[in-house]
Amino acid sequence: MDLTFSMLGQRMNAESGIVSLMDDLGRALTERPDMLMLGGGNPAAVPVLQARWRERMSELLADGASFDAMLGNYDPPQGNPVFIASLAAMLRRELGWHVGPENIAVTLGGQTAFFFLFNLLAGRTMVAGRVQHRKILLPLCPEYIGYADQGLEPESFIACRPTIEWPRGEASREFKYGVDFAAVAAALAGGDIAAMVVSRPTNPTGNVLTDDEIHRLAALADAHGVPLIIDNAYGAPFPGVIFTEATPFWSPTTILTLSLSKLGLPGTRTAAVIAPPPVIKALSAMTAIAGLANTNIGQRLVQPMLDSGELLTLSRTVLRPFYEEKSRLALGWIHEIFGAAGLDYAVHASEGAFFHWLWLRGLPVSSHELYERLKERGVLVVPGEPFFFGLPDDWPHARECLRLNFSGRPDVVREGLQRIATEAAAIVRLHRGG
Ligand SMILES: Cc1ncc(COP(=O)(O)O)c(C=O)c1O
Repeated sequence: MDLTFSMLGQRMNAESGIVSLMDDLGRALTERPDMLMLGGGNPAAVPVLQARWRERMSELLADGASFDAMLGNYDPPQGNPVFIASLAAMLRRELGWHVGPENIAVTLGGQTAFFFLFNLLAGRTMVAGRVQHRKILLPLCPEYIGYADQGLEPESFIACRPTIEWPRGEASREFKYGVDFAAVAAALAGGDIAAMVVSRPTNPTGNVLTDDEIHRLAALADAHGVPLIIDNAYGAPFPGVIFTEATPFWSPTTILTLSLSKLGLPGTRTAAVIAPPPVIKALSAMTAIAGLANTNIGQRLVQPMLDSGELLTLSRTVLRPFYEEKSRLALGWIHEIFGAAGLDYAVHASEGAFFHWLWLRGLPVSSHELYERLKERGVLVVPGEPFFFGLPDDWPHARECLRLNFSGRPDVVREGLQRIATEAAAIVRLHRGG
């Protein structure tokens, strides 16, 4: 048997950040139940939501005909028409956006949406009779590790370094990345950008681009005739894991993704893309080609909750306070534990999502090496380096950061932070020769 993989097959099979992250996570959860889990992006078990999903599932089961249709029929590749109509109505009612069913496509989670979108827009493209290699621009790096290997053609991304700001002064040890608009404008001026993408809130940093930053990015995108893609995996109106007053944004030249995963439904693999109709048509075709249709259980679970407004109420009154409190507690422990360990640390402002982004300034080993050592000490984190893909040059800062998921059990998070600080302090001492 000749199992020589194609060039594309080899690219998809290569060591990649997302593959080893998912692998480590899966192994830790099954083979090392004692591992302190500060890695991964799993949503927390939120009892109110879990109870509600069980109730909704019972309601679906009780309605025999509808249950049989759910399991027994393929939906159209664009998604379930009833779900799409309810989502469009909610977005019009709650946010005043002019969207109809022609602006919405369902995909197998946000991850699949990005795989489709990046390869729809970027790569070799005929422009005025010439083949151009078009790229996806990340205006603010570090950005979501899950995008990094999604371009079917090599070098699909180009990223801009952010500015580093200290909104409450450097002594607060809390920094915030900002968009370097001059760098973004320069990248766009190169003429080979197919689209810009930002996650808001950002995975890994917990940054939320301000309304002003989003409006300026949208204006730049319009000026260069490229779409702005906003990944709303954690944002408003659902799941609403956003701790600042940022306004949800969409325009007819924006592509916005929403996902059910962080509502506690990652197992349903369901997301929705809000986009101009030609993009929706293309995404529907890609769904049909890759998988015929989408999973429909998630759509059926949440559809009546879109109509009643319950989904947004739960996001505002349960999910946001749940994660905000977890963030606040863990941030307090970071300052207490890393301060006591005498480490030169800083942490990104926590404005949303499930993560604290820790910056160990002057760390004498790479973040990847620290991650490996921490695994031996029974703590799983995510090293910083893979989030800095697409940068044209080396940035030592990338080797000094760690992503920590704060949504686990408080005793686990606290003990995990303690072990990280102990290990980092030991490394620093060793390298000082102390
Ligand atoms: C920023 C961001 N985008 C997209 C995704 C993909 O999520 P899903 O495919 O479950 O919707 C994730 C998952 O953690 C994420 O953090």
